[in-house]
Parts: sequence; structure tokens; C-alpha cells
Amino acid sequence: MALPPAFLDELRLRTPLPGLIGRKTRLTRSGRNWKACCPFHGEKTPSFYVYDDHFHCFGCGAHGDAITFVMRAEGASFPEAVERLAAEAGLEVPKPTPEAAAREKRARDLHGVLEAACAAFQRRLRLPEGADGLAYLKRRGLSDATIAGFGLGWSGGGRGAIAADLKAEGITQEQLAEAGLIRAREGDGEGRSEGFTDLFFNRVMFPIRDRRGRMISFGGRVLGDGVPKYVNGPETVLFKKRSSLYALDLAKEGAFRGGTVVAVEGYMDVIALHQAGFTGAVAPLGTALTAEQLEELWRLTPEPVLCFDGDAAGARAAARAAETALPLVTVERTLRFVTLPNGEDPDTLLLKGGSRAFEALLKAPRKIEDVLWGLIQEAAPGAGVTARGKQKSEIFRFSRLITDRSLADALREELLSRWNSGRPGSRGSGARNSGHSALQPRRPMNVPRPAITSERTRMAQGAALMAITLRHPWLLTEVEESLAGLDLGAGLAAQCRSAVLAWLAQGHALDSAGLMDHLAKVGLGEAAAALLRDPSLPFAARPDAQPKEALDGWWHFFALLRGEAELLDDQAAARRAWTESNDAGEQERAQRRLVRLQAAIAALRRGEWGEDEDEPPGGAGNGDRPGGHPRSTP
Ligand code: UTP
Ligand code: MN
Repeated sequence: MALPPAFLDELRLRTPLPGLIGRKTRLTRSGRNWKACCPFHGEKTPSFYVYDDHFHCFGCGAHGDAITFVMRAEGASFPEAVERLAAEAGLEVPKPTPEAAAREKRARDLHGVLEAACAAFQRRLRLPEGADGLAYLKRRGLSDATIAGFGLGWSGGGRGAIAADLKAEGITQEQLAEAGLIRAREGDGEGRSEGFTDLFFNRVMFPIRDRRGRMISFGGRVLGDGVPKYVNGPETVLFKKRSSLYALDLAKEGAFRGGTVVAVEGYMDVIALHQAGFTGAVAPLGTALTAEQLEELWRLTPEPVLCFDGDAAGARAAARAAETALPLVTVERTLRFVTLPNGEDPDTLLLKGGSRAFEALLKAPRKIEDVLWGLIQEAAPGAGVTARGKQKSEIFRFSRLITDRSLADALREELLSRWNSGRPGSRGSGARNSGHSALQPRRPMNVPRPAITSERTRMAQGAALMAITLRHPWLLTEVEESLAGLDLGAGLAAQCRSAVLAWLAQGHALDSAGLMDHLAKVGLGEAAAALLRDPSLPFAARPDAQPKEALDGWWHFFALLRGEAELLDDQAAARRAWTESNDAGEQERAQRRLVRLQAAIAALRRGEWGEDEDEPPGGAGNGDRPGGHPRSTP
């Protein structure tokens, strides 16, 4: 169970760092703070500094708060470290409250309500009223075993059918409404007591379960060609469309037994695939794949396959998925892409070509670099100077979106090498476009996409930077000056920045909730909330990111926004402040800034190397930098 942030803040507040760290290494005064020989790497002269709320080693980059310190120094897990520190601080680690327990019980009950509804729908499918629905499913090639295995059912004709079925089991209409099966009728007037309408009627019912197999909602399909073709249950306390995947519980099993994890577009595709033996198939619920859903896929396998239709919409969806995935992929977890023959979906392909047709597709998936290369050529077709320049800048844009450094390097190299072999006069063109089997002819993806200007990229980077700041305002003690001097344009990120700096100047405790309250008071509540809601945010913007991850992420985006020339200026200024100031606190802040800036410049140079092809590699330093990319773990 996640611990309340307020408790963790209290715990940190009640755990003075010098006392804790002084047990492991001898501390000496350094201005307002302390320094010591780093307990995490062998050294003879102290480069390990202890501040009010965190420690930082300028030698090895070790960085964190009291909890991180115990984790590292004693090899404790996060809960163990918290337990230990809480005991020393005389705090009790919070147990679930009665309200939380009640909420959990209600949720458990709701699963039960949906489970009962599922059973009722399945019964109805076998009654005379369900005959048409059953015949429809059979006509679409589903066996009795498949129909039972997926728990498919018949909704009944509406008019309170499901409520009547479940009344005998003591399930109320209010519960059905909360479960997303019926809806309170608005403004019916006339004082009618039966104020509910059915959400599903005359539909084949597809139960939707969570990754643990608990009922969370339903989808319902009309027989034949009516609209809407599918109705899905509304968002409820149990059903979060953006993070659920259809058949995830079954695919988990399938993946465990070695099945390929493959995400397709529709319910019927998933069912047909499972029936044909592809038991790792899942689908999103009528929306584009989200970052949360990708995370779910990666929990099953490091390399899930995304399967898209062979038409323009499918190509658009693939492009969108690739971009959503870029900030999340690493050398350990990536994606593969399969494109269906035009006009087919997995269901129709299986009906026409059997499981071998789909098997053949899975054998020759495209890698993410293939998809990106396709996007680049589509965004800037041709071999003219302008097109080639645009292609190159797209290559750098994509590789910058990748937060995993090794992968970003490898991807940039690969794309540049394709770009080089596409040079007019070069015969190498095409030779590297592997991954296209005869079954999967390369088709040009002539899909109009909005131009992605560097302005948009900057906006996204600024939003990420501000989101990290809002989540972890404690890092303002380190980044205030840098944040204040940054060009954020004139958008919401810049407005939030001004409000944050004003709030900081008032000397509040640096906690995220307090900051959000302040922003709400100055009319930026919605803007700030929107910043934090963005699903493509980096890991560093998550509330549970470790301090080091948050700081690394912050400096990563700062470096991208600031650019190399300015970073060099900043570095010179920090060096001056460090050597020339006679205020110890100011000196230390400058020193910290200097280390961060050095790391940021090195990272940026590594990231940008290749922009100037004549420059030899190396030089910028290959050592492990203290300020890494947002996903680096300590
Ligand atoms: P498709 O129209 O491709 O569905 O939409 P499908 O699974 O191939 O449907 P069949 O084969 O005609 O039965 C893909 C998915 O988009 C969502 C559903 O999740 C569907 O499975 N969708 C589609 C809706 O939510 N509403 C709709 O009206 C249509
Ligand atoms: Mn279909």
C-alpha cells in the first residue's frame, strides 16, 4: 500500500540527517551544513555533503534523503527503511484507515455485483431471448468453449431486466449504478420512483476484467450493423479505461506459458486470437494505447508486439503509439510493430488464413526504429536539401525523446546510418530496411500528421520540467536560480513558474500539496493539475520518484531547454560564484549547481554527438554522470 506523502514528509522532518549519517561516517562542519568522507565510495578527502533535507556526494553522485540513506547504507528495502526510521522517530507507520478499509470493501462488493451481472448475462444468452445473440457469436466463428471462457452473455432487452435479475441476490439499483450498469435518469419529472435506465440492452455482452481477473466493466455489441457498434461501461471506481486492457488476466497466463504478448484493436480480435492459440492477445478499450497500458504490457514481457490495421488510421495509431512509447523505452524494454494487410483485422485474417497467417506476421515484426524511420520519411519525403535537413532534425528529436541514454545513442546511430545511406548518389539505400518480409510489403504511410515543431517539443519539455517541480518542490532549494533564468516562453508553464517562485519567496514549507493550494488560489489550479495529469510525463514527475530521480529528471529537462551555449555561461557564472563569494551557503549552492551543470553539459554533448559529423567521439567524457536521465535508478 502506498504511504501517504504527508506521513513521509513528517518522517523526513523528524529525522535529522546529521544524526543519522553521523553514525556511518565522521561529520565535520562546513558552513551551515556538514561534510564527510563518502560512506558509499572510498575517499580520503571529504566530498560528501549533508544538508537539511538531503545528502549529496560530489565524488560519486550518491544523493538522497534519510530514507534513501538507510536503504543504501543498510541494504534495506523502502518499507524496511521507513519502518526503521519511524520507530526511531516515534512515529507509527499508518495502517489503512477505516475510511480506506470501507472504500476497499465497497470496491470488493462492486466486483461481486459485476460478477453477478456477468453470470446473469451468461444465463440470458442460453435462454430463448439470447438465441439471436448466440447464433451471432457462432456465426462469427466462436466455439462454445470460447464463449464460455470469455464469459460472453446477452444483455436482455433493457427496461430494468438486469436489476430484476439481481434483486433476488440483494443487489440494489444504486449498486448497479455505481458499477456502471444502469444510470440514474435525469429530469424524468412526474415523480416516478423507478429513476434508472439500462446502459446495455439488446447487446452481446463482453465482460471486462482487471489484471487479477476481477470484474470491472462490460462492453456490449449490437447484432449486425447498428450504431454505436460497441457500448462500453462508463468510468467507475473500478473501471479506468486508460489503464485497463481487455483480456489482460488471460494474457498474463498466456505470456507465462510462452505466448507472444500482442496488443490488437478490438474485443473480437482478442477473442479470435485466443481461440486460435495466441493467448497473449489484449486490446485497449476503444482508445489509443496509453502510457499506462504500455506499462501493463511491459509487466508481462520486455518486448510486446503492437498490431495495427493496414489502413491510414492504423498507421496513425502506430505512429502515435511509437511516440507515446519513446520516453518509456529502454534497452531492456521496447516494442515491436506488426501491420496487418490492408482491409483486414486479426479476426478476419484468422478467418481467411487461419492461425498460420497471423503466425507469419508475428515472425516478421517491425522494430521501433523501422516505424520511426517510416515516420521521418513521411514527414519529410525526398532527397532535397530541405527534406534531408528536416529528416536529420527529426532523427535528433526522436532520440532526444528517449530518456534511456544507451538506447537513445543506439537509435540515433541506427537512424543516422540509414539517413547516410539515403544520401543522393549513395547505393546503400534500402539495404538496411530489414524487418520487412514478403508478407509485409513496405507501404508508404501517406498520412497527414500535424507538423511537430521544435516549439511543441519545447512546450512539452517545459511542461515536464514544471510537473517535476510541482511534484517535488523541495528541489527548488537547488534549482531556484536556474529555474528563474530559464526561457519558458509565455504559456502556462511560464505562468506556473512565476507563481511557484513567488510562493517560494514567501518561505513556505516545500510540500507539493501546499504549492498546489497556492496555485489554485492564484487561479492556476486547473493549469497545474493539467500539467500533472499528462500521461506522458517522465518518471521523475511521479510522486513516488526518489529524490535523485526527481533531480536527475529536472536537470535533464533543464539542459534540453537551456541549450549548450547557455549552459556554458551558467557554468562560468557558477564557478565565479563558488570561488568569489564569501558566503558559505551561497558557495555551496554554487558548487552544487556547478556539478549539475557539468553533468548536464556532458549529457547534452553525448546526446548531441553526431550533429557535427566531423567531430571525433569521446571528449565529452564517458564516465557515469551524477545527473542522469529521468529513468536512471540509483
Ligand atoms: P472495431 O470496429 O475495429 O471492432 O473497433 P472489432 O473488434 O473489429 O469489432 P467487430 O469485429 O466488428 O465486432 C475496435 C474497438 O474499438 C472499440 C471497441 O473496443 C472495439 O473492440 N469501439 C469500436 C467502441 O468502443 N465503440 C464503437 O462504436 C466501435
Ligand atoms: Mn473486427
